[in-house]
Amino acid sequence: MRSIKLVFASALNSKRILKINRKMNKEITRRNAIKTMGAIAVGTAALGALNSCDENKAAAAPSGAKEKKGAVAPAIPVFAGDSDKITREFFDSLLLETRYIDSDIPDTTFELFGHKFATPIMTAALSHLFNNAPDGMNVYAAGAAKSNAVHWVGMGEYDELEQIIATGAKSIRIIKPLEDNKEIFRKIEHAAKSGCIAVGMDVDHSFSGDGHYDNVLGLQMKSKSSAELREFVQASPVPFIIKGIMSPSQAEKCLKIGVAGIVVSHHHGMVNYSCPPLMVLPEIRKVVGDKYPIFVDCGFESGMDVYKALALGATAVSVGRHLMPLLKDGAGAVSARIDAMTAELAGIMARTGVRDLKHFDPTVIHKRNF
Ligand SMILES: Cc1cc2nc3c(=O)[nH]c(=O)nc-3n(C[C@H](O)[C@H](O)[C@H](O)COP(=O)(O)O)c2cc1C
Repeated sequence: MRSIKLVFASALNSKRILKINRKMNKEITRRNAIKTMGAIAVGTAALGALNSCDENKAAAAPSGAKEKKGAVAPAIPVFAGDSDKITREFFDSLLLETRYIDSDIPDTTFELFGHKFATPIMTAALSHLFNNAPDGMNVYAAGAAKSNAVHWVGMGEYDELEQIIATGAKSIRIIKPLEDNKEIFRKIEHAAKSGCIAVGMDVDHSFSGDGHYDNVLGLQMKSKSSAELREFVQASPVPFIIKGIMSPSQAEKCLKIGVAGIVVSHHHGMVNYSCPPLMVLPEIRKVVGDKYPIFVDCGFESGMDVYKALALGATAVSVGRHLMPLLKDGAGAVSARIDAMTAELAGIMARTGVRDLKHFDPTVIHKRNF
């Protein structure tokens, strides 16, 4: 009787996972269609704008954009320099060899800054999620907490962060490279006092696309020197992370600055023709060694994508836009997707002889050359 129940439960579970997968795939197809439509409609001049990193626009895109009915097939289908497209192609160009002998049931538990988590799959540092659900920022955090996953949070107000922490999510606050360093110190202090397990800065958001300092929703940005970043690191009561590193030489600078970690990320295509994060990851890992954790984001959509990043040297990965369409369905839906991705990751670990997060082996990965 018990085994019948188990089989039934596992069938129900697989059905649920399949349903979520189908939903996510539909959303991805819809988003690609929207991107293509945009490219046809506005022409090459506006393609930079499609790739723009205005977080507000990015948040609005899933519900705001509309597909045109009866559109003609494009002559130039999709902009070749779209960093998201290039990143997807790179993920899909990586193949695995299987390794069954001496393999066993894997352990996906993950330790970071003295805390234990169920999975190396974390949420990404998002903001302005009220476009996706009225209480989007809290739903997103509660989803991560329910999966016992690390939660990242992007720019936002002091009270918003306090509400996020109140969901129980163990959170990492990413602060913008504000022109006003005093406000940065205040935000570091506040995040630590509120209970964030770490803080950091997305240094890739200092410039606008036209060679000036960026202004994000009225907040003036400015690039930061190594000396300024070192001051933030030294002032922070909790570990300080730099987000937006895409080159081994910058990772080396981070070593000298004394950071507690970096995020390898092109910030959903801040620059067109960006290298995919997984392409630069092995070289960055070589420079960094085991001196600090390396997190990766941009375009993760499955446990398989996560596996490839971990095999190539990531300590853990973040998932952002892939989870956004689920916010309207509540924290349970976000958590179910993180759990399903973790289950897929575990399945591949078992079949490639990886028993835990410390035993990934990059030689499992082959670059498709046919
Ligand atoms: C709506 C939205 C808001 C974001 N806000 C921030 C932010 O405030 N700070 C930050 O460092 N990154 C922010 N990001 C970038 C993400 O952290 C991440 O680097 C990027 O989306 C790539 O990951 P993904 O492909 O999994 O979404 C935002 C992204 C989106 C889509």
